Amino acid sequence: MSKIFLSPPDICGNELSYVQKAFASNYVAPLGPMTQAFEQALSAYTKIPYCLALNSGTSALHLMLAHLKIQPGDVVLASDVTFIASASYAYHMGAELRWIDSDVATWNMDPQCLKKALEDCKKEKKLPKAVVVTDLYGQCADYDAIRSLCESDGIPMFVDACEALGATYKGHHAGSKGLGCAFSFNGNKIVTTSGGGALLSHDESLIQHARKLSTQAREDCPYYEHQEVGFNYRMSNICAAIGLGQLETLDKKLAKKRSIFEYYKTALVPLGERIHWMPKAPYGQPNHWLTVMQLNPKETAVTPDALLLAMEQNGIEGRRFWKPMHLQPVFRKCRYYGNEVGDSLFANGVCLPSGTSLTEDQLEQVVSVIRKILA
Ligand SMILES: Cc1ncc(COP(=O)(O)O)c(C=O)c1O
Repeated sequence: MSKIFLSPPDICGNELSYVQKAFASNYVAPLGPMTQAFEQALSAYTKIPYCLALNSGTSALHLMLAHLKIQPGDVVLASDVTFIASASYAYHMGAELRWIDSDVATWNMDPQCLKKALEDCKKEKKLPKAVVVTDLYGQCADYDAIRSLCESDGIPMFVDACEALGATYKGHHAGSKGLGCAFSFNGNKIVTTSGGGALLSHDESLIQHARKLSTQAREDCPYYEHQEVGFNYRMSNICAAIGLGQLETLDKKLAKKRSIFEYYKTALVPLGERIHWMPKAPYGQPNHWLTVMQLNPKETAVTPDALLLAMEQNGIEGRRFWKPMHLQPVFRKCRYYGNEVGDSLFANGVCLPSGTSLTEDQLEQVVSVIRKILA
């Protein structure tokens, strides 16, 4: 039996022919026509007009903070329940990170906790330089509620939509309500470029500046002139060729991700209250990047580790829920605003195989292991 992975790449369209085209043109280089075409295709899909293709989602998150000129000691507020890359560069830049818990209804940043954090910042006369909001596991955060809290004080809201390509919020694409947003195209995302990311914004000057920073901040000048120091973050023409092919099948992949979620949900109904699923927020459509389940400790003694071990023994890869940032040893001195919602999600959560190439037989194998251990 072949191993069932969590969310492997699904190459099922024109990727190879676009890569061959890139080779034939000899643009085996950091930039080329495919990079530009990929940026245009992403903008067209998301309806966010300005796009910068990069070598990772982490680079996109960094460039946003670099554009905002975060200085040591500046306060940055960020989702507590996320992957560390949402905030790792704020840390490297010497910012003071404060974590905002999730709410039970969406598993995303709780506007009430954010409100409390902003009140404290005001009292201390230390307004945050940015609020970084994660769209967890492919479901958008409540952008309007969060933005309205930030807007009156001119605090930029930036969306880490790395997991959420294809999700929507009130009919708008994931990330589109932020000053800018980051997407990831690493190997386990719904669209992969093998490794890559993008920064998108409605603000042309932001993307222009980020573009400059992403290519060593070289001035428009016949020789190498630098008024600021940048990075080497661009997406290569070859990676973009893969991405172009991937984007063409995004709608198909979205439908498959949703059907995977529905499959698990329906097949595991007999487990009743022993498990719960990620709640669907009323304001949008998640992309179901990963199907995530919560074990209910009041109804079962099975722990996430025990379930993951049983899966592993049957050749099935799963994953624990993100460990909240305020529980990470490296951030133990950071302030936290919350009600330990993320603690409980972490304690009980399991991510199930959700790759878009999963067959019904494979889904049934996963389901039967879960049914057996939770019976
Ligand atoms: C929420 C979140 N933020 C940031 C990243 C970083 O993206 P990348 O791996 O492309 O740097 C990821 C992807 O792993 C992610 O899931």
